Amino acid sequence: SNDPLVIFTPSGKRGRFPVGTPVLTAARQLGVDLDSVCGGRGICSKCQVTPSYGEFPKHGVTVAADALSDWNAVEERYDQKRGLTPGRRLGCQAQILKDVVIDVPPESQVHKQVVRKRAEARDITMDPSVRLFYVEVDEPDMHDPSGDLERLIRALKKQWNIKDVKADLHILHALQPSLRKGAWKVTAALHTGEDDDRPRIMHLWPGLYDGAVYGLAVDLGSTTIAAHLCDLRSGEVVASSGLMNPQIRFGEDLMSRVSYAMMNPGGAQEMTDAVRDGMNALFTQIAAEAGIDKGLVMDSVFVMNPVMHHLFLGIDPYELGQAPFALATSDALHLRAADLGLSLHPAARAYILPCIAGHVGADAAAVTLSEAPDKSDDLVLIVDVGTNAEIQLGNKTRVLACSSPTGPAFEGAQISAGQRAAPGAIERVEIDPASKDPRFRVIGCDLWSDEDGFAQAIAATGITGICGSGIIEAIAEMRLAGIVDASGLIGSAEQVGTPRCIPDGRTHSYVLWDGGADVPRITVTNPDIRAIQMAKAALYAGARLLMDKLGTDTVDRIVLAGAFGAHISPKHAMVLGMIPDCPLDKVTSAGNAAGTGARIALLNRTARGEIEETVLRIEKIETAVEPRFQEHFVNASALPNSAEPFPILNN
Ligand code: FES
Repeated sequence: SNDPLVIFTPSGKRGRFPVGTPVLTAARQLGVDLDSVCGGRGICSKCQVTPSYGEFPKHGVTVAADALSDWNAVEERYDQKRGLTPGRRLGCQAQILKDVVIDVPPESQVHKQVVRKRAEARDITMDPSVRLFYVEVDEPDMHDPSGDLERLIRALKKQWNIKDVKADLHILHALQPSLRKGAWKVTAALHTGEDDDRPRIMHLWPGLYDGAVYGLAVDLGSTTIAAHLCDLRSGEVVASSGLMNPQIRFGEDLMSRVSYAMMNPGGAQEMTDAVRDGMNALFTQIAAEAGIDKGLVMDSVFVMNPVMHHLFLGIDPYELGQAPFALATSDALHLRAADLGLSLHPAARAYILPCIAGHVGADAAAVTLSEAPDKSDDLVLIVDVGTNAEIQLGNKTRVLACSSPTGPAFEGAQISAGQRAAPGAIERVEIDPASKDPRFRVIGCDLWSDEDGFAQAIAATGITGICGSGIIEAIAEMRLAGIVDASGLIGSAEQVGTPRCIPDGRTHSYVLWDGGADVPRITVTNPDIRAIQMAKAALYAGARLLMDKLGTDTVDRIVLAGAFGAHISPKHAMVLGMIPDCPLDKVTSAGNAAGTGARIALLNRTARGEIEETVLRIEKIETAVEPRFQEHFVNASALPNSAEPFPILNN
């Protein structure tokens, strides 16, 4: 035909349209992702496009400067009122006159990509549950009686082709005043993607509302609660914040919280109240930080381990404290945030990812979503270390998961000089194999301990203890320097040849730091090494068990997830035999993968359905009933291991 050719970039979609077709109409017919809140009325500006002029040999077209119609009155008015960036046009107003190449900038795409910073990570495609739609509703008519809601629903169907819309009671409360205040024009926030797939009206604004709506992605850990506040249109994280889990006062680790619930009538409820109060405080704080109204938060996603899951939902975790560790439900949950005691928008939704098994929670499912072992060509081992290690092994064909009781030693608990990772904590250690003297770095200071100015630089915080990554490095370096043997015993001063090995009860300790008479010495004791041996043996045995089940002795790569994984040095972890032998450049850190998974589920509703299906296919291994777990555990108590050769490490 002789109709002008229209080519959209970056999609490359093309077609011919009669002269005078609005760009938005052409985009819709071609399935080009071009946003709109007002439905082409020239008031929301979400449809902005950039026409390109000149030669396009690749596409075989030349675009003339007058390929699109001149500004019309609507664009003129919009530009005067709110300003249109030079070069930009409103897609719903600009009409196609000649062949043209039209670029849709990321801001104008609904399904834009949110770039993840890690090289190997897939970007997130925007497909949020909540979107805004502006509609013009018919006025009521004596001769054709119908309710305001029915006419609103009819308008949504006619103007946006959205069917089966439903509304809760709170919308009926707001409906009539909103319609009349907006002179029968309203913007509706619709939430889609729940079990029945019916869009739900979340909120009504009189007239046009083209501001932001928000969602929260929350990682509820037993130690900290971390939340990201996201703009549901841009996908941007507008604020992030964390809070100590207030349940800590009922017990440091999960099992002590389960026992608290068992021993104290009403104990589970107390912990439920505590975590919900903490969550509300965190949300208030994060909204204040971003300078937004909490009432604009309409969606939320939560990930957590099974005990946190039950306590947050107000379910007694009793059954999780004993075999066979039955969850009340492992399915994903679509809930009202208000039913969880959360004060966000009154209709805000809460989505909880599915749990994988009695010991492998929604946080592990979030890690699966973020790291996608089920889409990996090579065999990947993913380890999320907390007080439990949640371990996944697999590739495209099969994924296995288990949890292993590492205890809190990796977080610095049960370690004589242990502390949380905070200023003053030793986090990196090197020991000279000849002199057996250490040098180290302290959180909050850029210098190594043997560099000039170190004493001054740490004067403010002092050296207060050693954190999880520090103790791993210290013990691994002690092993490499011959201070500690394969069984985990520290030698005496004579055996090792350094006065830093001092008698301590019936064993010896190694002095890492002696700041003089006024400050406590920081030593690594034999019980410290024992605690780390137990923790790392549990971790390794879990990983090894999954490798057995899959019939493999090696893995192609290892991903360390979680805050701990972000700080741990792969080399030192391997020297201790925490993780299987694997080329060091194939060991990477994924940071807070559970939090990222929560963010993906918040920004992309199809990802929710996908992870629900993936979780059903993951094979769950219960370490407690596997006889080989014990065998692997015993072998893995040695440094690095009494049965496995660790060939790469020894090369
Ligand atoms: Fe709203 Fe063009 S679609 S201004």
